[in-house]
Amino acid sequence: MHPYHTPTFTRNLDMNVSDAVAARRSIRAFLDTPVDNDLIRTLLEKSARAPSGGNVQPWQVHVINGSRMDDFQQHLAQRDPREQPAYEIYPKDLPSPYRDSRFKVGEDMYALLGIPRDDRAGRLKHLMRNYRFFDAPAAFFCMIDRTMGPPQWSDLGMFLQTFMLLAQEAGLDTCAQEAWATRPDAVSSFLQTPDNMMVFCGIAIGYKDPDAPVNTLVSERMPLEQWATFN
Ligand SMILES: Cc1cc2nc3c(=O)[nH]c(=O)nc-3n(C[C@H](O)[C@H](O)[C@H](O)COP(=O)(O)O)c2cc1C
Repeated sequence: MHPYHTPTFTRNLDMNVSDAVAARRSIRAFLDTPVDNDLIRTLLEKSARAPSGGNVQPWQVHVINGSRMDDFQQHLAQRDPREQPAYEIYPKDLPSPYRDSRFKVGEDMYALLGIPRDDRAGRLKHLMRNYRFFDAPAAFFCMIDRTMGPPQWSDLGMFLQTFMLLAQEAGLDTCAQEAWATRPDAVSSFLQTPDNMMVFCGIAIGYKDPDAPVNTLVSERMPLEQWATFN
C-alpha cells in the first residue's frame, strides 16, 4: 500500500505544495475503504481559505458519504436519465489545440482500459462509471447560485483545486466530475436544493485502487511556449 493511503488523516509532513500538485491525478477506480466525514469536514474547512473575488466564497458543498451514497445511487436509478444539462460542458466547436488535448487524454485513457475506438458499448460503459463516482465511497457536489457569473465560477475552480491538493496531502484521491452537469435534476431532487442553486460538478473522494490500470494515466500538458508569452 502506498504510504499516503492510510484511511486516517495523518498529515504528510514530507509533502510540500509542489509534491501535492505533481502527485494529484484524476482517479477513476477507487477502493471501497470508507472515508471519515470528519476528515472531509476538515479538508473543506481548510479549502475555504481559497481566494475568491471580493471574498464572495460562492461555493456551496453537499457531501454524500456511506449509506447516503447508497441512497443517492438508488435515487439516481429511479430517475429518467434524459435530462437537460445544467450547462454546456464544452463549446460546440472546441477549437484546436484544446480539441486535440481533449481527444488525446480520452484515447490515452481508453488505451489503458483496453477499449478500442470502435467499441462504442465498451466506451459508454466506462463513461457510465462516472455516475457511480468510479466506486468512490464518498463525494461532494459543488453547487453555485444561478445569479453568479464567470468570475464566481472561476472561484469554484480555486476552491476545488485547493480541496484536491489538501486531499492528496491527507492521503486521499479525487476526481472532479462535470459529468454530473448532465444529471442536474437527479442531483438537486436528492439534495433538495432550492431552484436558484445549480450543480457545477461532483468530486469523487476515496482511496485509489493501486491495481487499476486506468489509475496509471498521466495526462499530458501543452508545452509552456504554447500558452505563455513573456513580453
Ligand atoms: C472541473 C472538472 C471536471 C471534470 N470532469 C470529469 C468527468 O466528468 N469525468 C472524468 O472522468 N474526468 C473529469 N475531469 C478530469 C479531467 O479529465 C482531468 O483533470 C484532465 O484530463 C487532466 O488529468 P489529471 O486530472 O489526471 O491531471 C474533470 C476535471 C475538472 C477540472
